[in-house]
Amino acid sequence: MRNKVIAGNWKMNKILAEANQFTDDVVKKVPSNDNVESIICAPFPFLTSLVEKTKGTKVKIGAQNMHYEEKGAFTGEVSPVMLKDLGVTHVVIGHSERREHFAETDETVNKKAHAAFKHGLTPIVCVGETLEQREANETMDHIEKQIRKGLEGLSDEQVASTIVAYEPIWAIGTGKTASSEDANEVCTHIRNVIKEATSEDTAEKVVIQYGGSVKPANIDELLTQSDIDGALVGGASLEAESFLALVEAGT
Ligand code: G3P
Repeated sequence: MRNKVIAGNWKMNKILAEANQFTDDVVKKVPSNDNVESIICAPFPFLTSLVEKTKGTKVKIGAQNMHYEEKGAFTGEVSPVMLKDLGVTHVVIGHSERREHFAETDETVNKKAHAAFKHGLTPIVCVGETLEQREANETMDHIEKQIRKGLEGLSDEQVASTIVAYEPIWAIGTGKTASSEDANEVCTHIRNVIKEATSEDTAEKVVIQYGGSVKPANIDELLTQSDIDGALVGGASLEAESFLALVEAGT
């Protein structure tokens, strides 16, 4: 039985005071159930403070990106070593916004996934198709390619502890959620691809999240699906009350 994992991806939002207030509110009310995990993926400048605030609680702190190198002449970049040192536990890799605006490829996603495991971080690897790809019936092939290349060379044990986030690009920030059946169809496909590449046992352990206009009003239906184990949430993760409602739905 896989745990449910609800992760908030704040993207480039909030200032430090707002991030702190949100986290104080969430820590006070987060459900204590062991079957649901909650992660706040915050901008780099807030990480130290949020890790401090969540110490000894059930809330984990994630980053939204990192470089795959440990250190060096990469102006403006943040390394996995730095994140680990701060107490960050998770890192979002290959979000479609990074693929679109910052030239992330399946190859860099793969390097980052390896780097995450090397330094004790759990990667949340994002995949998803464009509207054009969906309309051209290319979704399944595209997702398979992203999964195979993104997870290439990881051990079965590493794959089993990877979180995969299926985020159809046309559903991100648009208010259009994939129907829970359509979302589940792709998540089942992801699990089958992983099964082919590794083993049934490994594939059964992988947490697969859905992302794209998830909110308290639609999370219950998504979480009843056989292969959806949680959500990666943008807009609806910005208010503590709404984030807590999403976590509550996973209990
Ligand atoms: O990573 C979360 C995401 O891209 C979905 O954003 O605002 O549609 O929930 P949103």
